[in-house]
Amino acid sequence: MGIAEDMGKRQRSISVSEFFEKNRHLLGYDNKAKAMLIIVKEAVDNSLDACEEAGILPEIYVGIRQVGEDRFRITERDNGPGIIKEQVPKIFGSLLYGSKFHRLKQTRGQQGLGVSCAVLYGQLTTGTPTTVVSSTGNGKTHRYQIMIDVGKNKPKIMETVVEEGTPWHGVEITFDVEATYRENKQSVLEYLKQTAISNPFADIVFDSPNGRVEFKRGTDRLPPEPKEIMPHIEGVELGVLMRMLANTKARTVHSFLTTEFSRLGRQSANELLLRAGIVKEAGGNVAPDTKLRPSRVTDKQARGLIEAARTVKLLRPPTDCLSPLGSELIESGLRKELNPEFVTAVTRSPEVYRGWPFQIEVGLAFGGSIQEFSLLRFANRVPLLYQSGVCAMTKAVQETDWRRYGMDVNRGRIEEPLVVFVHIASVWVPFTSESKEAVANYDVIIKEIKLALQEAARKIALWLSGKRKKAMLSKKKSIFEKYADETAHALSVITGEPKETIEKQIYELINSKWEELNGGEEIEEVGVEDRESGEGSADTDSEETESEHSASGEESF
Ligand SMILES: Nc1ncnc2c1ncn2[C@@H]1O[C@H](COP(=O)(O)OP(=O)(O)O)[C@@H](O)[C@H]1O
Ligand SMILES: [Mg+2]
Repeated sequence: MGIAEDMGKRQRSISVSEFFEKNRHLLGYDNKAKAMLIIVKEAVDNSLDACEEAGILPEIYVGIRQVGEDRFRITERDNGPGIIKEQVPKIFGSLLYGSKFHRLKQTRGQQGLGVSCAVLYGQLTTGTPTTVVSSTGNGKTHRYQIMIDVGKNKPKIMETVVEEGTPWHGVEITFDVEATYRENKQSVLEYLKQTAISNPFADIVFDSPNGRVEFKRGTDRLPPEPKEIMPHIEGVELGVLMRMLANTKARTVHSFLTTEFSRLGRQSANELLLRAGIVKEAGGNVAPDTKLRPSRVTDKQARGLIEAARTVKLLRPPTDCLSPLGSELIESGLRKELNPEFVTAVTRSPEVYRGWPFQIEVGLAFGGSIQEFSLLRFANRVPLLYQSGVCAMTKAVQETDWRRYGMDVNRGRIEEPLVVFVHIASVWVPFTSESKEAVANYDVIIKEIKLALQEAARKIALWLSGKRKKAMLSKKKSIFEKYADETAHALSVITGEPKETIEKQIYELINSKWEELNGGEEIEEVGVEDRESGEGSADTDSEETESEHSASGEESF
């Protein structure tokens, strides 16, 4: 038999479950401590997504119990809308199944890979099924025990039970997995703490192997529910456009363009068709061939459409598809979890990368219980704990000249009790990999982060300079006070005046000078906004995009 025939016998398709079983590191499962974090994260992210979509203030429970050497039982529960019984097996028992991939909407999950991979990891490491309990509030509770048939990427239901009882709604998942429990900077505890900062409207209870930790909500206000949008033609790639052309229900290419893309009007569609060479002759004139059937568009014409989309001036995508936290929620989150002396936040206007809208927000918290510098990264309100070295957010922080804002920077390290919070909200966050740990380095994203950082840093610089000026003045004041007694004594000997009178005069002098310098007000109470708008403030830099004296270079984050 020929080699080709021989090879042919062995060639077959690979199920997605089999692929990820072998390549679990692609989803971040490359060590036991990280596995623990990812499983909790996937479950909690889903709960928060579901609660938000249903407009429910989230109440999340996470429990981790050691049940053997290297073996843990992880329970996660929410008060969300629940999952209808037909969907439970598909969601937990097959990979790449979900409600978010095909919608352009700002959510935490996007690929339909999260929770089913946790099920897969559990069965791979302990051979046990995952238990899912769900109710949609109709008094019926469905309890499933699910595994994944890896070869077929289909659910294997081990057990199902229906119980009738008091109505409730939500989902509870229990995984038995091989893992390690730690409480370091990349742990479940840190993830939940940061989640409490970026989701200050959520109540989170965590029963850890070391005891209970509660993160209470700091506000009852949910951010506005983001709207779903259609793709923007600027962000669509050739292959996708061709698939859309093949599958569309639109009868003409013109209606395809105007109904399946966001913000594409009749005029722009005509212009695109003209430039893409989708034209017809009419009375000696060349006009766009608006009636052409989508299935008749050639590959060359499709490529022409993509190229034209880059040159024609099109309306930007709408931005009500984004739901930034806003400065009030960011400040509330930072205050309640970090107890800082000063906090400020900035939300930029929406921008666009590859046709996808995104929005950057930054918060800065300084002093109080904060001991040292740290950068907290978030994408659609999810904390990113790994891969900071390759993340656009880290790059933007490194390329910001913090010295300019009164910060101590030593060999690339910011030596201040400062927490920098950076959030990207987008309908499609460009992660560097499936494990969703770092944001890709698009120039426009880095630029937006830097501008937000600069704006927030200017506010903190004003506050800091006020605070430091006051500290210097009070140091001076205490020196004068320290020597008042001695000075009064010496002057009394020279002038013959009573010492008490002189000392009283010295104190009056010190106090009047103090009031004069402080403008009769506590320096901290002078509004930052008021002072920033004043001429000659510390704010000398405009919206610089590059800083020449960058304090970066080293990998200090
Ligand atoms: N706790 C939950 N409550 C309601 N729906 C859920 C919950 N967890 C998962 N889902 C549904 O299951 C789908 C698949 O989840 P997942 O595998 O994590 O993928 P993704 O979150 O990327 O869509 C979600 O899109 C959602 O529709
Ligand atoms: Mg998910």
